[in-house]
Amino acid sequence: MSQSTTIEEQDKKTVTLDALYALISSDLKKVDTFIIDRVKTEVPLISDVARHIIASGGKRIRPALTLISAQLCHYEGSRHIPLAATVEFIHTATLLHDDVVDESKLRRGLATANEIFGNKASVLVGDFLLSQAFQIMVSDGSLKALKILSDAAAIISKGEVMQLMTEGQPETTIENYLQVVSAKTAVLFAAACELGATIAGQERYEEPLREFGIYIGIAFQLVDDVLDYIAETSSLGKNIGDDFQEGKITLPVILAYSAGTREEKVFWIRTLAELEQRPDDFDHALTLLHKHSAIEQTIAMAERYCAKARTSLNGFAPSKAKSAMLDIVDFCVQRLY
Ligand code: IPE
Ligand code: IPE
Ligand code: MG
Ligand code: MG
Repeated sequence: MSQSTTIEEQDKKTVTLDALYALISSDLKKVDTFIIDRVKTEVPLISDVARHIIASGGKRIRPALTLISAQLCHYEGSRHIPLAATVEFIHTATLLHDDVVDESKLRRGLATANEIFGNKASVLVGDFLLSQAFQIMVSDGSLKALKILSDAAAIISKGEVMQLMTEGQPETTIENYLQVVSAKTAVLFAAACELGATIAGQERYEEPLREFGIYIGIAFQLVDDVLDYIAETSSLGKNIGDDFQEGKITLPVILAYSAGTREEKVFWIRTLAELEQRPDDFDHALTLLHKHSAIEQTIAMAERYCAKARTSLNGFAPSKAKSAMLDIVDFCVQRLY
C-alpha cells in the first residue's frame, strides 16, 4: 500500500474470509477440478492459455458467492458446482478479452496471456471459455439459470463497450460511470448470488440476493479503481497506473476533474484524452486526486454500497452462511488496507 495519510488514518479492520472458505472449501475444490477438466482439449494452445490464466490463481470470489448463496438458501444438491464453474468461466473469458483491450501486461501476479501467447490466442481462447460456460449451462438444463447467466454475459460485453465509449473523457458523469461499473462487473456478482436462490427453488430470495450482488459488485469495482492508483503492484498482482496510462475514466478521476481548476483540467485532458503522458504525470495525477479527496470520496461511495448490500440480507435469519456473506462485504473494502 502506498504511503497515503488519508488511507492510513482509516480504521484497519481485520475481517478475513477464513469463515467463508471453511464453509465452502470442499465445494470450491470441486469447482476447480471441474474447471480444470473442462479445459483439457486436444488443441494444445487452448489448454496452455486456459491453464495459464486459471492456474495462476485469482480469488474465486464469484464462484464462492454462488456456493455460499446456495448454502444460505439451504440447497442440498450438486448443481451449484458446475454453475459456480460457469460463473468463473465467464469471468475468466472476460479477463482474457479485457487484458487485450486494456493492453495489460500483468494479471494475478504473472504476465498476462496476451503478453505470453499474443492477442489472437487470448481472444480466441476467451471465446472457447465462453463456449464452455454455455455448454455447462445447457447441461444443467434449467432455462432460468441459463437466462440469468446469459443475460449477465450479454450485459458484461455491453459494459465493456460502454466503457470504451467513455475512454479519454474525464467529463463523464458519475451516473454514466456507475452504469458501466454495474454492467461490466456488478451484474456477474448479481448473477452469481441469484443462482444460489434459483437452484434452491427459493424464488423469494432471488431478488434480495441479486441486489446484494449488484451492491457488492459496484463496491468491489470502486475499490479496484482506487487500487489502480494507490496499491502496490506486488500485492495487487496487476500493474498500478494501467487505468491512467490508457485514459480509462474512473470515479477518482471524474471527481478530481470536476473539482479541478482550469489548469488541472488541461492536465487531465492532455494525459487522458490526448494520451500525451510524461514520466512525472502519474505522480501529479495522484497529487490532484489527493488534493480533491477523490480517493476518500470513492472509498466512501464504496462503503455506501456495502451498507446497501448488508441491508439486502436483512430478510435472512442469522446463519453461518449469512455471516460469511457479510464478511465478503467487509472484504470488498478491506482489500484496500
Ligand atoms: C478483476 O476481478 C476484474 C474486476 C472486476 C476488477 P478480480 O479481482 O475478482 O480478479 P481475480 O479473479 O481475483 O484475479
Ligand atoms: C474489469 O475491468 C474487467 C471486467 C469486469 C470485464 P478492469 O479493466 O477495471 O479490471 P482489471 O483492472 O483489468 O482487473
Ligand atoms: Mg482491465
Ligand atoms: Mg481496473
